[in-house]
Parts: sequence; C-alpha cells; structure tokens
Amino acid sequence: MKNLLLLISPQAKSAYFNDYIDVAKAELCWLIGGQEVEHRRMGEMDFLAVASCDVSLQQLARLSFIYGIFEQDGDKLLPLSAESEFSLHENFVFGSKFKGKTNELLTQMLINVGLKSIDYRNVSELKLLDPMCGRATTLLWAMRYGIKAKGIEQDVKAIADVRMNIKKWCKVQRQKHSFKEGFIGKANKHDKGKFIDFDAADSSMRMINGDSTEANTLLKNEKFDLLVSDLPYGVQHFTTDKTRDPISVLKDCVEAWSKSLKINGVIVLSFNRYLPRREKLIGVFESEGFSALDFSAEHRMSESIVRDVVILRKLY
Ligand SMILES: C[S@@+](CC[C@H](N)C(=O)[O-])C[C@H]1O[C@@H](n2cnc3c(N)ncnc32)[C@H](O)[C@@H]1O
Repeated sequence: MKNLLLLISPQAKSAYFNDYIDVAKAELCWLIGGQEVEHRRMGEMDFLAVASCDVSLQQLARLSFIYGIFEQDGDKLLPLSAESEFSLHENFVFGSKFKGKTNELLTQMLINVGLKSIDYRNVSELKLLDPMCGRATTLLWAMRYGIKAKGIEQDVKAIADVRMNIKKWCKVQRQKHSFKEGFIGKANKHDKGKFIDFDAADSSMRMINGDSTEANTLLKNEKFDLLVSDLPYGVQHFTTDKTRDPISVLKDCVEAWSKSLKINGVIVLSFNRYLPRREKLIGVFESEGFSALDFSAEHRMSESIVRDVVILRKLY
C-alpha cells in the first residue's frame, strides 16, 4: 500500500475529547505494529498518516475512529473504497441511548485491540465475554463483527431493556432473528440466572442476569478467547457491594474470569484511572497468572474521570 491518510471521525472527538488524536494513534499503532504514525491537520480535518502497511483496507476501515481512507498522490488525496462490512446494522449498537452506556467507539476500540492481541484464523471461531455487560453494547458490537458473545449483568432490569431495544431495531431494519429466554438453573422470582439469546446475521449473543463472581456457574465453565468490559466507574455505576472502588469487586471476580478464558486469551478493560490506579488493577490480575501488554489509551471523559485501557494476557 502507498502513503495513506486516515481521516479521523468527528465522533471520535466526542468519544475521546481532547485526547482523540493520541487515542487514535494508540489504536492504529497497535494494529500496524509500531510503525511511525504522523498527525496532519487540513482545515478542520484531522488525519493520521502512515507510510505503508501490511494491514488490509478492510481492517483499517474497522478502526474505531475512521471516517475515510485516502491515498496521497503529491498534494492530491484519492479516496479509497474501504467498507467496514459489518453484518448487523449499526443501529443495533448506536441506535439506542441509555444512562450508563459505554461510548460505542470506545467499545469498538476495545474489541479491535483485543482481536489484534490474540491468534485466530476467522472471527466466526471466536467467543467473547463481557462479564459486566450493562445493556449489551459490547455484545452487539461483537455480533456485528461476527463474533459469538455472552454477557453477565447484575441489574435485573437490563435484560428487558435490551430485549426492547433489539426488537425495535429488528423491526426498523427488517432484520431476521430469533429470541429465546430461559434460566440457568431453576426459574426464580428474582430473575437470577435469567437469560436471553438473540440470533441474527449469522451470529449470536446471550445475556445473563447475575453476579460476575459466579461467572463459571452461569456460563457452565465455557471458555472464551476474549473478555472485554467497561468497568464500573464508581460514580455512575456502583459495584455489587455499593463501594465506589471497583478493585474489591475485581478481586472477587478475577478467579472466575480467569477460568472463563483460554490460555493466551486476553482481557481488555476500560476503567477510571483514578479508581482503581492502573498498577493496582494490573496487580490483581498478575497474581492470577496474567501479564499486562504494553498498551494504554488514556483520555479524559469528564472532570472526575480519566479513562484508560489495559490489555491482560492469560499466561497460565
Ligand atoms: C460501565 S457499566 C457497563 C456498560 C455497558 N458496557 C453498556 O454499554 O451498557 C458497568 C456495569 O457493570 C455492572 N456490574 C458491576 N458489578 C457487577 C457484578 N459483580 N456482576 C455483574 N455486573 C456488574 C453494573 O451494573 C454496570 O451495568
């Protein structure tokens, strides 16, 4: 490939605020493996320039910040036809807005850097788990990629909300699909273990109501290639024990999460850098056989939250 200019989407500015150039660079560098990347500004447009790379246009088009890809020819820019070709309509991920939703582009970035960190032949072979899935943003993104996904969420109202949102977009987009509902274990009036399955566009997701510390029971010891989650921030989302510090809940979850992951699989987490501190978070996982990879994508989210991303590989 020749010299490429990647146009950064205006949406990335709201996802990553003032740090959007650095976050976009971090994601691109992770994908292309440390090649030099340069920021260029033309008028109001921000581009990342790369000399040449082995990565396909389709892969580049799936970067979370991409708005367009151009080949540079002297002082002219030639737009390249780079389709991201997702199987499920974007409305399934972007269409519904709700309190506590993880930014859609951030979620895509988490999946992208996770995929780059594992070995696989075809995404359709992969299984992704979001052990704190909220209202399924990660699960639906995974389905768009053709990855089978499962999620666990403690909020009892979440399954009904997800069902309603998905039904709406199936209707609007005339998406062929199937739903199944049931319980892991015995049905009960607290809806503990209740699940919903959604199958569409050659992929599927299951969302289970329950506590992530019980992941192995809820998932019947199934093993996943990737765990991707946006951790509770302590401000908007309380953790199970109503403390603001997610570290205590992570300590309770780490064994179950580790058992749910294949060896050499990775966990990708976004978290509020102030709570927990990066080193403390990594420490919890190191004691369970994980090693942190050299990736970070720090960016301010609000006055009280600076979000970061960590990738942890399961060594044994
Ligand atoms: C930042 S939100 C995730 C939002 C999600 N990515 C989305 O877009 O809907 C974190 C979620 O973790 C959930 N959570 C916290 N502790 C949990 C636990 N022990 N088991 C299951 N879910 C938990 C919270 O209820 C919250 O919905």
